[in-house]
Amino acid sequence: MKPTPSFLPGAPLLGNALEFNNNRHALIQRGLDELGPVFAFKIGPKPVAVLIGPDYQQFFFMETDKKLSIDKPYRSLEALFGEVAFLAGPEVYQEQRPILHSPFQREKMLKYMNIMQCEVQAWLDSLGPEGEMDISAEMGRLVQNVAGNALMGQNFQSQVGREFWDLYADLGKSLNMVIPPNWPTPKNIRRDRAKRRMRQLLEPIIAERRQNPGQYDDFLQDFIETPSRSGSQADDETIISLLRALMFASHETTAGQAAWTIIEILRHPDYEALVRQELEVILPPRTAIDGTVLRNLEHVAWAVREIERLHPSADILMRLAEEDIEVGDFRVPKDWLVLISPMIAHRLPEWFDEPERFDPQRFAPGREEDRRHRFSMVGFGGGVHKCAGMNFANNEMMTITALLFQQFELELLTPNPGLMFGLGAARPEPTRIHYRRI
Ligand code: HEM
Repeated sequence: MKPTPSFLPGAPLLGNALEFNNNRHALIQRGLDELGPVFAFKIGPKPVAVLIGPDYQQFFFMETDKKLSIDKPYRSLEALFGEVAFLAGPEVYQEQRPILHSPFQREKMLKYMNIMQCEVQAWLDSLGPEGEMDISAEMGRLVQNVAGNALMGQNFQSQVGREFWDLYADLGKSLNMVIPPNWPTPKNIRRDRAKRRMRQLLEPIIAERRQNPGQYDDFLQDFIETPSRSGSQADDETIISLLRALMFASHETTAGQAAWTIIEILRHPDYEALVRQELEVILPPRTAIDGTVLRNLEHVAWAVREIERLHPSADILMRLAEEDIEVGDFRVPKDWLVLISPMIAHRLPEWFDEPERFDPQRFAPGREEDRRHRFSMVGFGGGVHKCAGMNFANNEMMTITALLFQQFELELLTPNPGLMFGLGAARPEPTRIHYRRI
């Protein structure tokens, strides 16, 4: 029988929990350096097998919903978002998949591009001629506005407004890996109150839409109208849970990578000059952004892709072994957690030249380093659960970057922001930027 992976040394009882909480990237990098691409550590009593590198990542995604479960490691999120989408077991997931994926059909993207451009322009117009901002916080708010509009329609902000996002924040604050989600702690009580209030806000909106289906065309309407795999329509609770899950999947992730894109371009003046030259040609003032414009903004696209590589918001992904599995020379026993880390794997020198360097042109024709292996870049996951909103997110991050650099001169005042972790996703700490309208 093959051996289990070697463990990094850890403290009695706690294992490596403290280091994992304080600096998980250092822990994983140390394991890779000392023990190789397959190793283990412990969070308290729980063993975690770490797999680093494209072949192992391929295995991780191909075995998801087979030998590896995606929903079980994220059980603590289920109390927040409900048993839906990737937080549900494979049968419920397959039943709901047509509903979950319905808003992402290609022909809908044009409408979303228009929403993105309007919301980004409204944000830029609100900035005034000159000032300072925290780009990390600004991206959080802007992405909420785009999501609110695309997910729940133009009237969403005026109908339900800030209250919805404040309730969403209350949900996030209850997330705790240690205290069971059904204990009546103050945070869990606030979480349940927030869920009840969200339901009160959304139920009348859903009821009105069921009565007037022809009038709406957004994510919420798709969730209401699209039949599940067996042909039934989702009930209110499922629709509201799907919306919450989508907020979770889309919000901090996009805000984080959008902020990093702006920060890294500003840190690299030579590349900023290339972006500005490209914008002058492809995006003169008042150009409507559509698929053709985005395709032609190559330097912006490569920068967005380089941020997925260097600063992936989904910095680690987890599964649970449903049975004993063989990985390379090792055996991972049933009930172990299995972890991959885009943040560490995207910096492997075997796959990316000078991996620590911000070098968006590594994706340009002739180099195309991301084509060396289909699973070398996994910032949006892979396989059956690959990010449904990948194109949506990439288009949104490109639109934000393009319009901001088109209309403003910018100076980075916080040159080396650290990382902070919100509701699962990694994003830059508060980062000051000075801006002046061109
Ligand atoms: C930069 C932004 C984003 C990043 C980095 C990102 C990353 C990811 C990753 C890594 C997964 C797979 C998780 C796993 O395998 O454990 C995923 C799944 C998913 N994402 Fe995204 N995401 C982003 C934006 C969005 C947006 C904007 C939406 C929707 C509007 C979205 C919707 C989803 C959905 C629905 C899934 C689950 C798909 C399924 O299980 O079938 N994401 N995302």
